[in-house]
Parts: sequence; C-alpha cells; structure tokens
Amino acid sequence: MTHQLTRPAARDERPRSVDAELRRRARAVIPGGMYGHQNASPLPPDYPQFMRAGRGARIWDVDGNEYVDLMCSYGPVVLGHHHPGVEEAAQAQAELADCQNGPAAVIVELAELLVATVQHADWAMFAKNGTDATTMCVTIARAQTSRERILVASGAYHGSAPWCTPRLAGVTAADRANIGHYTFNDLASVAGAIEAGPEPAAIVISPFKHDAGFDQELVDPGFARGVRELCDRVGAALVLDDVRCGFRLHLGSSWEPVGVMPDLSAWSKAIANGHPLAAVLGSDRFREGAKKVFVTGSFWFSAAAMAAGVATIRALRAEGAVEAMERMGIALRAGMLEQAAAAGIEVNYTGPPAMPYMTFAGDRNHVQASAFAAATMRSGAYLHPRHNWFVSAAMTEADLERALGATAAGFAAVHAP
Ligand SMILES: Cc1ncc(COP(=O)(O)O)c(C=O)c1O
Repeated sequence: MTHQLTRPAARDERPRSVDAELRRRARAVIPGGMYGHQNASPLPPDYPQFMRAGRGARIWDVDGNEYVDLMCSYGPVVLGHHHPGVEEAAQAQAELADCQNGPAAVIVELAELLVATVQHADWAMFAKNGTDATTMCVTIARAQTSRERILVASGAYHGSAPWCTPRLAGVTAADRANIGHYTFNDLASVAGAIEAGPEPAAIVISPFKHDAGFDQELVDPGFARGVRELCDRVGAALVLDDVRCGFRLHLGSSWEPVGVMPDLSAWSKAIANGHPLAAVLGSDRFREGAKKVFVTGSFWFSAAAMAAGVATIRALRAEGAVEAMERMGIALRAGMLEQAAAAGIEVNYTGPPAMPYMTFAGDRNHVQASAFAAATMRSGAYLHPRHNWFVSAAMTEADLERALGATAAGFAAVHAP
C-alpha cells in the first residue's frame, strides 16, 4: 500500500479556541499552566492541551478535532478507549461502592487472576500509579535485605518520586545517596556498579530500553540472564519495572518470552485499561519483606478500578489483544518505513511493534521529529516527537489507513522544510 505524500498546511487551521481559553484560565490557577508528562507546552505549538473524549482508537480534543490515538494516554489504554466490558465491570462495582472501610471482594479475585497470569508472581499488592509500584518494590527489597543501595540503568525512567525523578528540583542529595547506575544491555557495567559500593538491595530494570527521545533498544537475553545471575550471587532483588510495557507485549511479565523471572515487578498503566490502578507482584522469596513494610493510600483499595483490572485482563486474553497490537504495530511500521523510503528520508524505527518510536538521521535536537509529529497530528493521528508511541488493540484497518494518511503528511513536512 502506498501513501501519497501531501504538503502539510503551514499551520493548524482547525478550531483551537476552547483549548486556548482553557489554557488561559489554567495559567492563573495551575502552576505553569500544566505540569508533568501531560504538559503540552514542550510539544510543538499546535498540539492540544485538553482532551474531551475517546472511543476505541479515536480521540477528540476539546475543540472537537479527531485523531487516531497513537499515544493511548501514554500507555494505559490497551483495549481502546471506553472498552464496553471494562466500563460495565467498573460501573457495576461503583454502583455497589468504590471507596469503603475495607477492600471489596474483587481485590482477592484480582490478586488471584494476576498470580495465575504472571509466572513469577506468588502474591500481589495494589496502589494507584507506577511510581507507587516502583517505590514499593524498592522499599520491599530494602526491608527484606536490610540493605540500602539500589541500582538503576542510567537514563531509565522509574517515576517521579525523589529517589528516581529525572528533574532534580526539590530533590536532596540524601534522596539519591543510595542510588547507583549501570548501562542497559552492558553486563560488565552491572558487575562494576555492584563492585562500586555496598551490596545492593535491588537491581531495577525496564523490559527494554525505552528512554524518552532516544532510539529504543530491545533487551539482549544474555544480558537479562546475566543480571538474574548477578542478583542471585549478591542476594539482591531483581525488580522488573513493567509499568510501561506490562500486558502490551505479553500476557504475563514482559521478560517471560526472554525466560527470565524477576523477584518483584511493578505494574500500572495498562492493567485496568485507563482506570487508576497499580500493582506490585512478587515471588515467595520476597513475601516477608512485603509483609513488613507499611504502604497504603486513601484510594489504593478502591474497588471500581480493581473490577476494571479483572475485566481488562480477561478481555486481553479473550480478544487476543497482545497479538492484535503486534499485528497492527507491524503494519504501521511497514507503512511508515515505505513512506520514509519513498520520500528518501533516513529514519530509525525502533522498539517492539506495539510500542514503537522513530528518529530521523542526524536530527540532534528533534527538529525533524517535531515537524513530523506536528504535521501528523494536524492530519489526524496523535503521536509524540520525543516519547515512544503505543498501539491499542482497538485499532482497525480504517484507523491504520487514517494514521498512515497522517504520517504521510508528517513525512512531507520533514521532506519540504
Ligand atoms: C517504566 C516506567 N516506570 C514508572 C513510571 C511511573 O508511572 P506513573 O507515572 O504512573 O507514576 C512510568 C511512567 O511513565 C514508566 O514508564
């Protein structure tokens, strides 16, 4: 299938007035107008800040502009927006009660389902966000081993708590005193990081290298096995941060296909198809540490998100969602690489098909990536210039066709400065 390259509009001519007015009001009452990863101000200027609705693989901004969603809310939406089975399950639980004096029965059902679905898991605990889950893993590993040091890959993102946030404003040296670094896929660097300080409580690792703004790098299975062996040798917990990848690449931990089992894993994003839920899964070896720590939150036991989690995991299996995302991701990659080749543009398209990212040769400051993303967005597909993209299982052939029509305009914008 060939997609014609069309010249993009010089600037966005679609409605933006509701967004502009909300931004004006937000600047007065929200510091900086917005914050965190959903702050649109670092994005090219025409990107909407505020969104209104989503159905399947389509989303609409507050001005009613429609997009094929290639960001999936930065990962949580895995079955598509407003999946009927998930919404019905969450609603049915919410009608009974959501936030109560004790957890609802569904917490046990969800823990049982996760333990049955994820090979390394003997138990589960729940929270709200990925940062809660990674921080709990680190705390449990420290409680169990009575050690302080944690090793992480340089440049990896594990959340926004002081021990791991990439921005150092408000972070003290003490917050980072026990954090050491290694290089992803470089086993000697892990051994070196272990040697460089006291024995670590944990080595934290992502299923693959998905640092924002860089080409992605799949894990070398030999590296994964080597990290497992080093953890066993020094008695550290192997913590897999599956927050971004979990249930998008495999219906189990993302390292099951690699054959490496972590001791603890952190989950959030996709496990309840957009409902606020995080989980820590662990093996029996770390059950004692998990029993010792005091971790909680006012909304960590809310039942509706847990009902959504149960329905999401069942639907992922029943609908063959992981395979569907891979299939669509492969088709998206093939279409985009064909467009790039036809335009004579050298790109590097990396990552698993369901979580791809593309850089342009020699594009040091993401200038071409920004031009590409902005024109693609204006033409009806929402993706990000400096963060990996996400494919959902709701993506249809029509969505793919429309997305590729938009990326064709994106390449044209790069081609014709
Ligand atoms: C790999 C990884 N770990 C942890 C987190 C933190 O998750 P949250 O933003 O839900 O706190 C993220 C979020 O993007 C992530 O991608």
